[in-house]
Amino acid sequence: MRLKKMAAVGTAALVAVALTACGGGFEAPAEGSAETSGGAGAPEAETVFKVAFNQNADQPEAVAMTHLGERLAERTDGRYSLEVFPNETLGAQKDTVELVQAGTVDFALVAGSLLENFNPDFVALNLPYVYDSQEHQEAVLNDPEITGDLYTSIEDQNIRVLGGFSAGTRSVYNSSHPIETPEDLAGLKIRVMESDTNTRMLELMGGTGTPMGQGEVYTAIQSGVLDGAENNESIFANLKHDEVAQYYSYTKHLMIPDLLITSPETFGSMSEEDRAVFLEELQVAFEESSELTTKVMTESQAAAEEAGAKFNEPDIAPFREAVKPLLDEKLTTDTAKDLYDSVRAAAE
Ligand code: GCU
Repeated sequence: MRLKKMAAVGTAALVAVALTACGGGFEAPAEGSAETSGGAGAPEAETVFKVAFNQNADQPEAVAMTHLGERLAERTDGRYSLEVFPNETLGAQKDTVELVQAGTVDFALVAGSLLENFNPDFVALNLPYVYDSQEHQEAVLNDPEITGDLYTSIEDQNIRVLGGFSAGTRSVYNSSHPIETPEDLAGLKIRVMESDTNTRMLELMGGTGTPMGQGEVYTAIQSGVLDGAENNESIFANLKHDEVAQYYSYTKHLMIPDLLITSPETFGSMSEEDRAVFLEELQVAFEESSELTTKVMTESQAAAEEAGAKFNEPDIAPFREAVKPLLDEKLTTDTAKDLYDSVRAAAE
């Protein structure tokens, strides 16, 4: 079934209509969907997989996945391609995990933290200050020796992780004052991603963590429900959070990967050969996104500064010290501890 053009996608009702109308993951692209979804169009193919993404179509991961779809169509002689639905069009990240499990959405890019809700061992990839650099993170995320077992560990819950993108480094920002020390966060309500680890982390850092989907953050800060959030420079500038919270302080506490998830059934619907092509091209997508990420973060910082945001560089040692208890609290299984050790060993 083909969808009619929709002028404004984004409300829950329309998303529901869109999903019902598509009725599954293996249909032709919606007519006009490149427009409605923000421009990430898909090449013609017999099967166009839907990829859920919560940021805009210009962001590195969306660009890289769109290009991956093009190469996939070429290399599978038009059997498969991808269409990226950006801007939470298919739902907030937490919902899209469920849609992938149900097979309604084929792939989703989700912050690693959300997968802790399915297997707590994922926490080892999401702890504060676990990575030394983007290169370190990227080497770990896509090394099957390190993450192979973890990525297949939730197949019984219908989720398979195919690999991870680096999504920059996260720092805190707020509407009140620059953060120089953990004490400066006292009394501030800071949005965190929807995982207990992040809520606890923010508490240890000196503030109060409020879990929430990304799409609601701007309004929550604007209305005073929140004092700020924590994220990379790109989200800060591109989602215009800098308009409502002008103090961005480089605590650099987190590098949460975005993991590409699918379901074993969806992925298994391709032949072995096509799956191999997909995985090969996915490595190229990781590289493309990596280069773009570095560029986008620098440009976003400059744009936010231009628009009046104030950036400061606190000493991160006290923040690093403050979150240390999280390691003992969260690395509770041998698997999680071993994983954490392997991640750290890859830094050396
Ligand atoms: C980043 C990250 C996303 C995440 C978002 C958030 O944009 O790449 O995966 O969802 O932050 O804070 O919710």
